[in-house]
Amino acid sequence: MFITPFFLSLLLLLAQLVRSDCECGYTVNATLYTDLIETDFLHLANITTDPDWQPQNYTASPALARGPYGKNASLTNVLANPLKSKYDWAGDGINGGDAGLQILVRGGVPADGLIPMGELATARTDMFFGTFRAGMKVTPTSGTCGAFFWYFNDTQEIDMEFLSVEYNASSTPVNLVLQSTESEEAGFNAAQTGTFKVHQLAFDPAGAFHEYRFDWSPESVSFYADGVLLDNMTQAVPTSPGHLTLSHWSTGNPDWSAGPPITDAILTVQYLKGYFNSSDPARQRDWSKRCKDHSAVNATCPIPEITESPNGNVSAKTFFFSMQKNETVNQTVSGSKTSEGISMEIPWDTRTATTVVLLLSIMWLAFYGL
Ligand SMILES: *[C@@H]1O[C@H](CO)[C@@H](O)[C@H](O)[C@H]1NC(C)=O
Ligand SMILES: *[C@@H]1O[C@H](CO)[C@@H](O)[C@H](O)[C@H]1NC(C)=O
Ligand SMILES: *[C@@H]1O[C@H](CO)[C@@H](O)[C@H](O)[C@H]1NC(C)=O
Ligand SMILES: *[C@@H]1O[C@H](CO)[C@@H](O)[C@H](O)[C@H]1NC(C)=O
Ligand SMILES: *[C@@H]1O[C@H](CO)[C@@H](O)[C@H](O)[C@H]1NC(C)=O
Ligand SMILES: *[C@@H]1O[C@H](CO)[C@@H](O)[C@H](O)[C@H]1NC(C)=O
Ligand SMILES: *[C@@H]1O[C@H](CO)[C@@H](O)[C@H](O)[C@H]1NC(C)=O
Ligand SMILES: *[C@@H]1O[C@H](CO)[C@@H](O)[C@H](O)[C@H]1NC(C)=O
Ligand SMILES: *[C@@H]1O[C@H](CO)[C@@H](O)[C@H](O)[C@H]1NC(C)=O
Ligand SMILES: *[C@@H]1O[C@H](CO)[C@@H](O)[C@H](O)[C@H]1NC(C)=O
Ligand SMILES: *[C@@H]1O[C@H](CO)[C@@H](O)[C@H](O)[C@H]1NC(C)=O
Ligand SMILES: *[C@@H]1O[C@H](CO)[C@@H](O)[C@H](O)[C@H]1NC(C)=O
Repeated sequence: MFITPFFLSLLLLLAQLVRSDCECGYTVNATLYTDLIETDFLHLANITTDPDWQPQNYTASPALARGPYGKNASLTNVLANPLKSKYDWAGDGINGGDAGLQILVRGGVPADGLIPMGELATARTDMFFGTFRAGMKVTPTSGTCGAFFWYFNDTQEIDMEFLSVEYNASSTPVNLVLQSTESEEAGFNAAQTGTFKVHQLAFDPAGAFHEYRFDWSPESVSFYADGVLLDNMTQAVPTSPGHLTLSHWSTGNPDWSAGPPITDAILTVQYLKGYFNSSDPARQRDWSKRCKDHSAVNATCPIPEITESPNGNVSAKTFFFSMQKNETVNQTVSGSKTSEGISMEIPWDTRTATTVVLLLSIMWLAFYGL
């Protein structure tokens, strides 16, 4: 059978329908991650309707919270403050001030001694090694702990913690912690262990948005700020799958959060991006089905590095695979997809495409013969 232009175009169509970009995953240099979560909080109107996230509602007694005060995490302290227009990447939020997700610690001490705070966790708990990034601006109000962390249990945990009491003209630290059995033995005072490090940042984290990141591999956890390596820890590296959490709290403990704050304190998050491997057998099966050839063009996609603080009033635009047409097929990315082409997400599989080609070929043969 000779190749007609019509038939050739059908073959090309078939090739297009069955492949998409990044099918084998997302890379940092040679390290590959198969799955992703991306949330654009600059355009997210309602956090309680986003299936990727679970705003937390719990209380912890002073004893449990290890402070003079306890905690009261409620949905009222996790507030969406998106940009006014879904097409913009700059300006104030709809409620004024910095756009993004606001996580609050309320000022003052309520009668029951449980300090009102905000926290949200990912619905997915299958994150098993990965690179995790949050664009955030911490509060300038003294007396809170802002935390971006990965969690499995109290001895397998990766933390980046910001203590607003520590900020002044000559001090802008971030606390990096891997919780461990050692820190458990020390009464969860990681300061006594080898996997607690304080790094002075080159900027004021309460002054502008910056990207905080940790890369977790079986051998190590490396921490970054605006793409600059802060630390690489090789002890107490977690060995189980877990989830991500963003939290803003205070217990009045003078050795950690201090506070509680006198006025409402706001931590603002512009985005969260995680590229990771899944411990879920169903996700692993999805991956081996869709990743047919690692070496094909665009089978793997490099994750762009953020090296400068995205300025919320000029442009806070950063790259999202989930906003491109063709780069998150067979993944679940439910965060707000705006501003750019929204994925067609037509699940054309090989069978569907083959059926289409067969039907059209039969029509061709019926009308014109070979
Ligand atoms: C999707 O990606 C594949 C493979 O890289 C490419 O051939 C195709 O043109 C892309 N389709 C669209 C609609 O961008
Ligand atoms: C990736 O490779 C570049 C160039 O060799 C290097 O500078 C960078 O540190 C590497 N990144 C990681 C996370 O290993
Ligand atoms: C993630 O999973 C892929 C596919 O199994 C594997 O090639 C890759 O090495 C894994 N990455 C890490 C950091 O374990
Ligand atoms: C968000 O959605 C929930 C559930 O649909 C609704 O109860 C709540 O009022 C919404 N919040 C805002 C700020 O729109
Ligand atoms: C939060 O938890 C309290 C106590 O368990 C419950 O009464 C309340 O309905 C919950 N609120 C929401 C919004 O889920
Ligand atoms: C926790 O905070 C919520 C929201 O402010 C409030 O309605 C609730 O009564 C508080 N719960 C406790 C036990 O203090
Ligand atoms: C956390 O999980 C690990 C691995 O299952 C276990 O060895 C450790 O005892 C757990 N820690 C706590 C505090 O439960
Ligand atoms: C700044 O904060 C650091 C850490 O809390 C503290 O040790 C130092 O005394 C403070 N400096 C000033 C000038 O307040
Ligand atoms: C961290 O240390 C591990 C183990 O020595 C090494 O393989 C890895 O390349 C280091 N990572 C970075 C970013 O330096
Ligand atoms: C796909 O490959 C082309 C050519 O190498 C490259 O320019 C483009 O950035 C790649 N796309 C992605 C999403 O990595
Ligand atoms: C943007 O401008 C508003 C109003 O002037 C200000 O409150 C906010 O801090 C600015 N945000 C950034 C990220 O510079
Ligand atoms: C991925 O595609 C397979 C069919 O090839 C489907 O069974 C599975 O549910 C899809 N997974 C996701 C997360 O969309």
